[in-house]
Amino acid sequence: MSSNIKISPSILSADFSKLGEEIVSLDKAGADYIHVDVMDGHFVPNITIGPEIIKKLRPATKKIFDVHLMIEPVDKYVQSFADAGADIITFHPEATPNTEETIKLIKKFGKKVGISLKPKSDISLIEKYLEKIDLILIMSVEPGFAGQKFMPDVLPKLKKLKEMITNKSLKIDLEIDGGINFENCKTAIEAGANVLVSGSTIFKQNNGNLKKNISLLRSS
Ligand code: DX5
Ligand code: ZN
Repeated sequence: MSSNIKISPSILSADFSKLGEEIVSLDKAGADYIHVDVMDGHFVPNITIGPEIIKKLRPATKKIFDVHLMIEPVDKYVQSFADAGADIITFHPEATPNTEETIKLIKKFGKKVGISLKPKSDISLIEKYLEKIDLILIMSVEPGFAGQKFMPDVLPKLKKLKEMITNKSLKIDLEIDGGINFENCKTAIEAGANVLVSGSTIFKQNNGNLKKNISLLRSS
């Protein structure tokens, strides 16, 4: 089971003065995806990076760029992130007036579509789009900052989504993001997650031994 688990390290916990080198190190350490947290100081209280930086980082690796947009609005920026080299573009349904249109737009640029649910966001926000998306990102902290505590009360939502996906025989990645560590990753996997995002655990545990931390998460 654990061999199917993908690890998507969040560069939010990397050294921003040498992001390119950090991505090369994550690639060598066995990351499957590179999770890029884009924050606008409006949809969430923090501000991070935009498409120009992603474009500059793109040559550092061939790994999948898993771009988590915490921005509002979404549609007017989709093309910039697609052109910058995002492979998966994930957005929050609360940040766009028409979820269906945003899905279509991301697909128009040939990118995979992810939808993210904040801890208190209900499954009903995405239920009718399941056939049209590639990934669901379940937030297990309030979006905005790295290093927060995992909220176990999102696990029933994860389980329910896993059931829905299985019943409908859909191929959707179930990604969990926020406060993932070597212990709670097991419960997240049991609940149905197959992609683990991690910032603090990967960059800070075991003196920042990326390879060790990635394989510890993967083999849980
Ligand atoms: C929070 C971000 C997460 C976060 C993960 O808004 O979406 O990706 O950086 O970091 P940790 O693993 O430290 O919670
Ligand atoms: Zn994220």
